[in-house]
Amino acid sequence: MRVKGMTGLRVGGIDGFVGANCPAMESPLINLADWEERAAGVLPREVFDYYAGAAWDGVTLRANHAAYARLAIHYRVMRDVRAPDARCRVFDLELPGPVCVAPTAFHRLAHPEGELATARGAGQAGALMTLSSLSTCRLEDVAAAAGGPLWYQLYINRDRGFTRELVQRAVAAGYRAIVVTCDAPVWGIREADVRNGFHLPPGIEPVNLMASTADSGAHSHRGAGMTEMMAWMLDATLTWKDVAWIAEEAGVPVLVKGICRADDAREALRHGAGGVIVSNHGGRQLDGAPATISVLPEIVAAVGGRGPVLIDGGIRRGTDVLKALALGATAVQVGRPVLWGLATDGAAGVTRVLEQLQRELVHAMALAGAASVADLRDDLVRAIPSDFSISANLHPGHAPCS
Ligand SMILES: Cc1cc2nc3c(=O)[nH]c(=O)nc-3n(C[C@H](O)[C@H](O)[C@H](O)COP(=O)(O)O)c2cc1C
Repeated sequence: MRVKGMTGLRVGGIDGFVGANCPAMESPLINLADWEERAAGVLPREVFDYYAGAAWDGVTLRANHAAYARLAIHYRVMRDVRAPDARCRVFDLELPGPVCVAPTAFHRLAHPEGELATARGAGQAGALMTLSSLSTCRLEDVAAAAGGPLWYQLYINRDRGFTRELVQRAVAAGYRAIVVTCDAPVWGIREADVRNGFHLPPGIEPVNLMASTADSGAHSHRGAGMTEMMAWMLDATLTWKDVAWIAEEAGVPVLVKGICRADDAREALRHGAGGVIVSNHGGRQLDGAPATISVLPEIVAAVGGRGPVLIDGGIRRGTDVLKALALGATAVQVGRPVLWGLATDGAAGVTRVLEQLQRELVHAMALAGAASVADLRDDLVRAIPSDFSISANLHPGHAPCS
């Protein structure tokens, strides 16, 4: 649907209102909840459930979202906010905005070009992307396709020789940091996947964990069944000394992802990490883990400016990003919304999702009286007293909450 005079990306601050790939009769993609709804109509049921799902009862998944609604923004006025500047710095990377792509698995389930399209789309938005260990495209090919900066996410594998080679491959291909995911000594149990009998179709594989190069063949797991391979990938014996080992090996900064406690953040830094990512894996590992935004302040205090602190989990609005930055995050990551963009419209969908969130942030900064991210400080955000009832609609694109 094209409306005369409304051909640009911005219509009253709303992106996607008249997108060229938004056929007539389909509702407009105004916010990230709309992208989720659209993706639900495009993806096979078991794939949507795999992406959307969470561990056990989904308590942490819901908490990640709800905790943002329990924070009020105590905005300022009269601050000259004609062009809020959302640029931020992570290590030596100057980013046009703080919205980054979290590592998520198996992108070829969403789109035939998989992680290649995600990396192109993220690059187009100027966003930092972290490639999952469970990428369905070769990490070298993703690096060649990407137009923006990349980090590589690592599960420290039982086979330490294979792990070392994987890190070396990633660094050689140009990945600028290694993100060690530490919240998965074993897999969380996602009951929707159990019910659906979720499995990868033939031809879609975590190729970087298979024999993708001649010299990694000795360590790889070609020929093993999926279940066996997934079990082989994780190591329940991991301790902090393994983080120290990766930090020594990597030759690039290492971040520890999956931190929800101040003491763990301190341990990460003590063992060579250059930064931490506050994450509960989007509620997919330990159900009952706290909402990430609720533990961010104590972790920021523990890190004390010694490295970047990123956060993910439940970030769906520019106001969520604003709250996270105000409480001390250096940048934020989004997981599922990127998959919804990818499923709906490939690389272009990824770009639009990221740009939409980024634009919402800039809009929210203007309304909050913040001319730059330096103006986002913790006095801007206060917890709403718990006896104050909130009837916020967490998914405004959908039917109102009753
Ligand atoms: C489908 C899916 C697959 C994921 N795969 C990985 C992974 O391979 N490695 C990892 O460290 N985290 C993984 N995560 C967790 C994300 O990196 C991130 O922590 C989470 O998605 C953030 O929450 P959000 O989806 O609410 O934005 C995955 C999350 C989802 C939804």
